[in-house]
Amino acid sequence: MAMYPPRAGLLCLGGDYNPEQWSSDVWREDVALMREARVNLVTVGVFSWARLNPAPGRYDFGWLDEVLDLLAGHGIAADLATATASPPPWFSRAYPDSLPVDQDGRRLTYGSRQAYCPSSPAYRAAAIELVEQLAGRYGEHPALAMWHVNNEYGCHVPRCYCDRSATAFRDWLRERYASLEALNDAWGTDFWSQRYGDWAEILPPRATPAFHNPGQELDFRRFSSDALLALYRSERDVLKRHTPAIPVTTNLMAALRTDLDYWRWAPELDVVSNDHYLTAADPESQIDVAFASDLTRGYAGGPWLLMEHSTSAVNWQPRNAAKTPGQLLRNSIGHVARGSEGVMYFQWRAARAGSEKWHSAMLPHAGTDTKIWREVCELGAALDRLGEVAGSTVDADVAVVFDYASGWAQEAPSQPSVDMTCFAELRRWHATLWRSGITTDFAHPAQDLSRYRLVLVPALYLVSDATAANLKSYVDGGGTVLVGAYSGIVDEYDRARLGGYPGAFADLLGIRVEEFFPLLSGQHVALSDGGTGTIWAERGRATTATVLATHLDPPVPGCPALTRNRYGTGTAWYLGTRLPEPDLARLIRDVSEQAGVRPVLLGGNALGPDVEAVRRRHPDGTSYLFLLNHGDHTIRVPATGTDMLTGDEIGSILTLPAGGVAVLRAKEE
Ligand code: GAL
Repeated sequence: MAMYPPRAGLLCLGGDYNPEQWSSDVWREDVALMREARVNLVTVGVFSWARLNPAPGRYDFGWLDEVLDLLAGHGIAADLATATASPPPWFSRAYPDSLPVDQDGRRLTYGSRQAYCPSSPAYRAAAIELVEQLAGRYGEHPALAMWHVNNEYGCHVPRCYCDRSATAFRDWLRERYASLEALNDAWGTDFWSQRYGDWAEILPPRATPAFHNPGQELDFRRFSSDALLALYRSERDVLKRHTPAIPVTTNLMAALRTDLDYWRWAPELDVVSNDHYLTAADPESQIDVAFASDLTRGYAGGPWLLMEHSTSAVNWQPRNAAKTPGQLLRNSIGHVARGSEGVMYFQWRAARAGSEKWHSAMLPHAGTDTKIWREVCELGAALDRLGEVAGSTVDADVAVVFDYASGWAQEAPSQPSVDMTCFAELRRWHATLWRSGITTDFAHPAQDLSRYRLVLVPALYLVSDATAANLKSYVDGGGTVLVGAYSGIVDEYDRARLGGYPGAFADLLGIRVEEFFPLLSGQHVALSDGGTGTIWAERGRATTATVLATHLDPPVPGCPALTRNRYGTGTAWYLGTRLPEPDLARLIRDVSEQAGVRPVLLGGNALGPDVEAVRRRHPDGTSYLFLLNHGDHTIRVPATGTDMLTGDEIGSILTLPAGGVAVLRAKEE
């Protein structure tokens, strides 16, 4: 029955299913209701370690046998969890040094979840033992469609600072640097007398009197991401040995966390899946849906799966707003529009007890006579109609590039300005593109970029020579880049590039900068093109670039703020300050136009900022125009095709009510 990757013509619908919280008569009602809602995939038993393995060496699979049989009997596939995300109390009690330690040396305790050190041998051994048992028992089960390893790695404990982590960190460093001499050189340990004479002297960056060594901090972040990835791999390898044909995933948190280097994780996953939750206080949460989806599609390099989101309120924000009528469908279709192969939720049935009892679910406490249940069923019907979209790709001519290590280094302490963020700036540029109606991919700066008309580099402080060369060859070959300030500044060890900034990109951009002039909080400077600079200024000059705007105000009057350089057969723009939204939008619009990038709907801006349009496409030219109205008013969209949700033929104008969604199928125009 394996249902993942989805069969041609089928999108997934389902969610986390935690039958261990309920008695077996409830399971029967569950599967009947799942059928009613057209659920076809559920993630089973993510937090069931304590039930599956209630004491050392003792396993109890009877209940899971019954649940999986029930699912299979009702045609519902299982994304079967390895259940390793939360070790049971007996385990933590038996192995207290498997519990994680924070930066201040506090050992955390059990009674919540994810209470393990990523480098704990005891945890790894116990997890692997459980996975062996599960894979051996269920590898041939007809319900098994996908393996779900652990859960949201690093969500609560992205880094552990215990002695075992220290040892593992040293091993990782030995592997990376081979000699202490090379490590001392990379970290610049002659500064503040930090020179290491023995590997055993090296520690995780625990609480210190003053700033940590930035190289040590950066490598510890890299190590910590790799330590969790090694755990994932060790489970994945067991599963592959038992069931080579069953896809393996683990759920990422693309827009929610920046602790793991997902560019390194994604190639290890058969299915890249993501969890996304709205921030209740965000008035433009639809842009966050797009941001998460575009990021995940970038990691996947194509279609992916929304593994979790919520039908309505969550329980972990200060004020947990419920979703308004229609928002469930709109949010879900928003993810599908941007490449998700289905819609999954946390969770199937609302919990009765525990910390998540006030988290919404597909089946609420109040039962089926509810707005949520009706909307879940409506979504099931909609996904049924949209099935043929599965496997299609998303049209995008623009890529925003970023690198985790660069962001970690840029946002570390002891930088020129705390306002020169990386991850928030990525969001801001992405939001600007969203508002302009331009669909964008995210990409790693070292990957092949040649298929994009335009590459945006909002913040790439740290870049290796090889990565810089990749961007240059993209432009040399005819591409267009727009590079944001404070990019190309340090090498991969966070050591300043000498001889003038922006070191790695000075020739690409045709400029030379000699000194940074960060602006004070709230300080604005006038620019010669009528725009305004904020946060950042720098003293420099154009070498080969054309200056398009200069600073009019101190601290650097007359210095370039915006330049454009011809490089090979391409064009490299440079923005040497940060622009507030209207100016950034204008710049991105100009650069896009000159690069031949068009919004999805020509004249899309005229429809107002509340309309979202994204196109998916099959190789045979069949395309699907997703239209979402996030506003309070009916809009009329010039478009043609078959509305797949209503069956209506749209000749020239689609009328989309407030909050409405449409998907228009068309053959190649
Ligand atoms: C996710 C997690 C789920 C559940 C959900 C609540 O981070 O994977 O288990 O806790 O959040 O929003």
